[in-house]
Amino acid sequence: MSARKRPYVTLAYAQSLDGSIAGDTGRPLGLSGPSSLQLTHELRAAHDAILVGIGTVLSDDPQLNVRLVTGRDPQPIVVDSRLRLPDRCHLLSNGRGAWVATTDDASDEAVSRITAKGADVLRLPALENGWVDLESTMAVLAERGTSHLLVEGGARILTSFLKARLADYVVLTMAPRFVGGVPALVQHELSPFPELTSWKSERLGEDLVLAGELSWSDA
Ligand SMILES: NC(=O)c1ccc[n+]([C@@H]2O[C@H](COP(=O)([O-])OP(=O)(O)OC[C@H]3O[C@@H](n4cnc5c(N)ncnc54)[C@H](OP(=O)(O)O)[C@@H]3O)[C@@H](O)[C@H]2O)c1
Repeated sequence: MSARKRPYVTLAYAQSLDGSIAGDTGRPLGLSGPSSLQLTHELRAAHDAILVGIGTVLSDDPQLNVRLVTGRDPQPIVVDSRLRLPDRCHLLSNGRGAWVATTDDASDEAVSRITAKGADVLRLPALENGWVDLESTMAVLAERGTSHLLVEGGARILTSFLKARLADYVVLTMAPRFVGGVPALVQHELSPFPELTSWKSERLGEDLVLAGELSWSDA
């Protein structure tokens, strides 16, 4: 775990039997059945904030709110280093004041466009490839009082959280079908990935839900 203060981070996503989280062209799949979708909304209600990458906003336009159970909406957060967030996406048009994590390199003009829509832009250090430094993002979220963060994807964001060792718990919904689409993790170099310890599983409708704490063998 990072030495800096950060929220407790849960990764939650749905995949097919072959580990796909989206269709072959990245199109959304609706993998979760009704019971596991309800669990997703229970998880949202149990977290202070919910985070996705800009890739997910561009392909799925998610609302990231609590609709299927009674509960409080978490604070929505988008990681978006180039401020590509469209004006008309749900997260900018629903008045929930999304937090947009971008880099110090973001132009004032782009920041103004997003803030004019009621969002709060967090300027954070950039990584070498221009992406947002997630460790710094987590420190800012902790300062803002976020103690439990739900990360719902997509693939690049899930990969980055795991590579940076910024994740504590995983809730994986597995739908009983093959897809042959976009894998849950993108991997360009070998890096040590964690495993689940003290996990539990449950069948919810037609889906299998697996949940447990992450641990790195060399930690
Ligand atoms: N089945 C599920 O549970 C589920 C859940 C969510 C999404 N999805 C699917 O996942 C797909 C989207 O995944 P994706 O990998 O394309 O997009 P993503 O993970 O949602 O967003 C990745 C983008 O975020 C930005 N970013 C900035 N800093 C980053 C960092 N430190 N680490 C990672 N990304 C950073 C980058 O774009 P910039 O360079 O522009 O900043 C990057 O390309 C969609 O097809 C969606 O349907 C599935």
